[in-house]
Amino acid sequence: MSKPTLDVTPHPQPAGAAERAALMQNPAFGHVFTDHMITLRHSAERGWHDWRLEPRHAFDLDPGTLSLHYAQEIFEGLKAYRLPDGGATLFRPDANARRFRASAERLAMPLLPEEIFTGSVRALVDADRDWIPSAEGASLYLRPFMIGTEVALPPEPSAAHLFCVIASPVAAYFKGGAAGVTLWVSETYTRAAPGGTGAAKCGGNYAASLVAQAEGRREGCDQVVFLDAVERRWVEELGGMNVFFVFDDGSLQTPPLTGTILPGITRDSLITLARGMGLAVREEPYAIDQWQADAQSGRLREAFACGTAAVVTPIGRVKGARHGFVIGNGEAGPAAARLKAALTDIQFGRAADPHGWLDRLP
Ligand code: PLP
Ligand code: COI
Repeated sequence: MSKPTLDVTPHPQPAGAAERAALMQNPAFGHVFTDHMITLRHSAERGWHDWRLEPRHAFDLDPGTLSLHYAQEIFEGLKAYRLPDGGATLFRPDANARRFRASAERLAMPLLPEEIFTGSVRALVDADRDWIPSAEGASLYLRPFMIGTEVALPPEPSAAHLFCVIASPVAAYFKGGAAGVTLWVSETYTRAAPGGTGAAKCGGNYAASLVAQAEGRREGCDQVVFLDAVERRWVEELGGMNVFFVFDDGSLQTPPLTGTILPGITRDSLITLARGMGLAVREEPYAIDQWQADAQSGRLREAFACGTAAVVTPIGRVKGARHGFVIGNGEAGPAAARLKAALTDIQFGRAADPHGWLDRLP
């Protein structure tokens, strides 16, 4: 099967500068989209084919499309950043490409070659370059995803797939960003069980978390923190973010990658940066009761959530049916601030990139 080549159809009427500027004025996360999209199809007979960069448009899907019934869907999230010289860069897109392949494997979908994933993302950013915000902390969020498109109702792996990338200019994920967010400990719902899809970035994981998120909102919380499904004891992650704990000896801890949490690229980058600062980082389980005890004794100094959308977000308070505690003074702490600065200074090209994480666009 031959390798696909990208067919480019520029938008006949892209948004004008004034319209774009108005749309990009502090947009709510993921509500504004750029002019173009990437599409690419896969079938057993033809392999990857019909690779296109085209004006963003709606899909025409038959109501019998498999993924509408059985959620055979995976996605990624990464960002393009505006550099001080006006250029643009991606951050570790190869890591997203690899995770996309791992998710595809878990969902019985075809494995997209890494270079087609990164080539698609680069081509879209290049076409929609003017949509990369230059406001402080803002960036262009990229959302690659894939769905099963076979029209059939037996719950079998789809014989046809559509890969697509869309882009959305974004500001901070949490309004009021830097202050500590409040988490709801879900005792009723879990996110992922051993043997399940927790380590895959598939839509179903998020669908299953929404009712817990709604419960948290009713309790006045910003996000849900999930416990493990077996013992209901170990802190796993948030609905869309990994979690770190900072102790009074300066060390950090984050739950290990045992298959039920998403292997976050921000998590991995922060582990590398923290170790580079000489800080000890443990990937070890942490119990919710211990979290409360350590917050109350002062042994725990800070906790923060991290992810592409959330970057580094301090956790101020934790609330639940059996728990309720404040971390530090409930506000952003110095370790989270220092790690966030180290990460974003690299991403925005304000600091050297010793790990080769940036993928600069020509
Ligand atoms: N955990 C979940 C469930 C997520 O959705 C995300 C966001 O992508 C993360 C963790 C953080 O992953 P990353 O740092 O790769 O964005
Ligand atoms: C991301 O950070 O990329 C996520 O996917 C989290 C959320 C927007 C689902």
